[in-house]
This record gives sequence, structure tokens and C-alpha cells, in this order.
Amino acid sequence: MDRNFALEFARVSEAAALASSRFMGRGNEKAADHAAVEAMRKAFDSIDFDGTVKIGEGERDEAPMLYIGEKVGRGGGPKLDLAVDPLEGTTITAKGGPNALSVIAIATEGNFLHAPDVYMEKIAVGPEAVDAIDLTASATENLRNVAKAKKCNVSDLTVTLLDRPRHEELIREIRETGARIWMIGDGDVQAAIAAGMPDTGVDILIGEGGAPEGVIAAAALKCIGGSLQGRLKFKTQEQKDRAKSMGINDLDKVYVRDELANGHVMFCATGVTDGSMLRGVKFRGGSATTHSMVMRSETGTLRFIEAYHDFTRKPVF
Ligand code: FBP
Repeated sequence: MDRNFALEFARVSEAAALASSRFMGRGNEKAADHAAVEAMRKAFDSIDFDGTVKIGEGERDEAPMLYIGEKVGRGGGPKLDLAVDPLEGTTITAKGGPNALSVIAIATEGNFLHAPDVYMEKIAVGPEAVDAIDLTASATENLRNVAKAKKCNVSDLTVTLLDRPRHEELIREIRETGARIWMIGDGDVQAAIAAGMPDTGVDILIGEGGAPEGVIAAAALKCIGGSLQGRLKFKTQEQKDRAKSMGINDLDKVYVRDELANGHVMFCATGVTDGSMLRGVKFRGGSATTHSMVMRSETGTLRFIEAYHDFTRKPVF
């Protein structure tokens, strides 16, 4: 994959972040999401590549743009698969909370798991603890092993997870280990990446979130040398049937990082609202600044890009 694509795609996540950030705190999730999707869709088409959305806004009949299978890009370049979340954190944005992002993961054709829109049980860590996690083991065991790998006590660890009733038992168990908890309202892609990076204040992500988000987070963690394991969670027979029709035969399989995002991948994200890794969009009269991260698994290079956008000379957001 041409390394310049990573920077090209940062322009795309910037466009989605700029558009959706206008809706920060305005209480309208749909409008925020729609703005991100529309801007991302348009920006893709300014790049010479032959893209297919593998993880996107849903099935063709439920999403007008960036639906699964949709072709994007100007064509003529390499065939690339995309896993996108134009606005990861629609509720966060609508409420004006922290850590909403616009994200894009890129792989060569056929390398993302075609994950159905169900939940996924996840566990994610950074480079020091890749060999310490096992989704089939208890939270207590995982925390003990991660603490050992990070040469600290379990009580020094901070676990991040979604604040959901389904995590009641898990939270009780984590509290018993003495580890600290950073509970988030939404946005477990950001939380998984934060768990994989130094100085973000969290050491491990545990719990159930969206499966598509799991694939995107796996790509990001691959770039930074971290790890994510995931297992799909089905609530209904219909979900199971659908997964089977998508080629998933072992419904209980634990997917390791490279089964979610195989081969060389690239990842970019732009902050929509301020967060622990990225600053959100700041508007001024006639201009705005964005803050993005761009990374590639092949080299492990992680770039932070601060961009100044002059609306007198380019599209107005
Ligand atoms: P959206 O941005 O699509 O609203 O997703 C936010 C999110 O919190 C994801 O980060 C997470 O994987 C998923 O929703 C969790 O789903 P639920 O809100 O149903 O628990």
C-alpha cells in the first residue's frame, strides 16, 4: 500500500470531523452523523483509488451512503477496503462530551473481517501486554497478567469500559481486583486505542461494544503494536442466521487482532470533540483547526497532524 494514502485519508477524516463538529452539543445525533457521512463520502471521491466499504453505516437498504459494499474513490488506483466510522460517538457529539472521533481504517482487498452489526466482547491492550490477554479467561486473571507484563500492581491499572447495565457483573469483578475503572458513555474505538497508547491514563479495555467498532480498533492497535481479541455476541437467531449468511460459521470463535484486520493496514482519526488523544475541531471566523492521528502497521509510524483550514480558500464547513 502506498504510504501516501495514509495522509490522503487524513484529509477525509478531517472533512468528516469538520462537518460533524458543527453539531457539537446541539442535541441532534442524526444531523451530526449525517454531516460526517456526507463529508466523508464526498472527500473519498477526490482520491484516486478503487475503494470498497467493508465496515460502514450499515446495509445498503438501511444506509444511503457509505453502506457495506459501496464503491468509493475516483477509481484508477489500488483496490482498497475501508472500515469507516464517520462519527464514532454520535451521542457524545450531540451532548458535547469528550472523545468523539471520525475514523478510517484501510487494508488491501479482503483483509477486514466482514463483521455483522452485532455486539462484540473485546479485550484490548498496548504493546507491553499483548501476550498477557486472553478473552476466554476471567477479568481477574487478565488483570493479574497485564499487571505482571507492565511490571506494576493490579491496583495501578486503569480499566476502561462502556457504562452499560450489561457490564454490571464485570464491573463488580474488576472492583474486587482493586483496579481502577474509567467508565465511558460511548466510543469504545477511542477507548481501545487509548488502552494501547502510553500516557492516556488507561491500560486495558474490557467489555462488550459494537463488532464493527472492534474491527476498526483492531486495525488501529495493529499499527501501534497493541492487541485486541474479540468474540461476536448474538442476541437473536436472526442475528446468527445473518452472520452465517455473511460467511461466519463458528459463532463462538475468538478472533485475534490479525483475523479482524489482516495484512498491512493504515488508520487515521480526527478529533471531533476534545479527548485524551486528540483535540476536537476549533472554529474561528473563517477558519478552523483539526487534530488527527495517522498511522501505518508496516512501519509503526504514528503522526499527529494539526491542520489549519482557511475557509476563504477551500470548502466552508
Ligand atoms: P455510535 O457513535 O455509532 O453511536 O457508537 C457509539 C458506541 O458507543 C460505540 O463506540 C460502541 O461500540 C457502541 O456504541 C456500543 O453500543 P451500545 O450503545 O448499544 O452499547
